[in-house]
Amino acid sequence: MILRDLTGEDWPQRRVLGGLTFGYQAAEELPEQTPAIRLGVFDGERLVAVAAGRPYTQWWLGRPVEMCGIAGVAVHPDVRGRGLVRQLMAEITDRTEAPISVLYPTAPGIYRGLGWEVVGTLDETVVPLGSLPTRSLSPTRSATGADLPRLHELYVQRGRSGSGLITREGPSFPQGVDGLLDLDVVTVAEQDGLVTGWVSYSRGQGYRHGGPLRVADCVASTAVAMQSLLAGLASWSAVVDAVRWRGSTADLGLACGAPLPAPEQAQPWMLRVLDVRAGLAARGWGVDGATAFATAGAGWRVTVEAGQATVEQQGADGLPSVDARGLALLFAGRDPGLLLRAGLLDRPAPDLSLFAGPPPEIADYF
Ligand SMILES: CC(C)(COP(=O)(O)OP(=O)(O)OC[C@H]1O[C@@H](n2cnc3c(N)ncnc32)[C@H](O)[C@@H]1OP(=O)(O)O)[C@@H](O)C(=O)NCCC(=O)NCCS
Repeated sequence: MILRDLTGEDWPQRRVLGGLTFGYQAAEELPEQTPAIRLGVFDGERLVAVAAGRPYTQWWLGRPVEMCGIAGVAVHPDVRGRGLVRQLMAEITDRTEAPISVLYPTAPGIYRGLGWEVVGTLDETVVPLGSLPTRSLSPTRSATGADLPRLHELYVQRGRSGSGLITREGPSFPQGVDGLLDLDVVTVAEQDGLVTGWVSYSRGQGYRHGGPLRVADCVASTAVAMQSLLAGLASWSAVVDAVRWRGSTADLGLACGAPLPAPEQAQPWMLRVLDVRAGLAARGWGVDGATAFATAGAGWRVTVEAGQATVEQQGADGLPSVDARGLALLFAGRDPGLLLRAGLLDRPAPDLSLFAGPPPEIADYF
């Protein structure tokens, strides 16, 4: 078997393998090629396994961190169970310069042995329109092309205030902000002439009990903007019963009077730290302090000053030992006590709580 980069000529085989493994047929034409590591394993001329690594950037505690998004992992049923995923993942993680990697697993067990761990879910929640506030508190209007930079700015502000959101900038987003207006409705809320929030959604089908409205983004920088945008969604109640809300419902829950239903879908996502020094230096930190740990046989001392980490390698002897999956959880802001209970840390190490951060959220599937 030979592992090599895929070319445009491999597309017909890749399309067939993808159709077989994922149960859908991609278009016959080669899709527009954004830069990515695209690998295939060949048995002679026959393509039997594929995987891709795409360049993204994700905010972690307010700072942008380069991330390799792994997608389209597929192995033909006749050659499964022979370690081809391990080979493909090793090649992608060797080649990428990103210090962390994220993927959406069909089963977490596929990637746990390789150091990825589940750090969050991309949820879809069906919320009855009756749960939304109905009174708008500020003027709203349709977004125009002139609003696009401001819409992105609001999204950036939102991303920087937490962890996990993808920046939507860079080579994997060649369209930039231009696609934002492609949805059926994009509404902005204004206060004192300034756009303070926006919501975008597709209407869905059906008259009376139609929909649901599929909300792609709802980004509000003030409670007034949030309430006004939600009131715009609630105004559909004569013909639509519900919105389908993508991503975290934390902001929505605070704006609604009624409790929200549980997510209808929760797609887990997994993280792996590929480069300890670069990843921890790039990430933001909530508080200053110092900690030390060992992972994969190397010791690391992390000193955070003014929210910026200095990461120095040292001997591993005597340091609390963190499993690769435990390091993924720490990176994502989880408590060291969780690692201890899961057997991913070999002794109590309270100063590892220096990593603590907000629950990570993500809104883009890849
Ligand atoms: C999932 C899939 C890629 C695995 O291929 P494979 O050739 O059997 O994978 P490997 O032999 O390299 O095994 C990698 C690891 O995954 C584990 N694994 C494989 N299939 C699994 C499953 N369905 N559930 C849980 N773990 C699984 C293996 O036990 C192995 O674990 P280990 O490293 O701890 O030993 C293949 O079954 C497939 O193409 N499935 C359909 C498409 C799909 O689900 N793709 C994954 C998208 S995220």
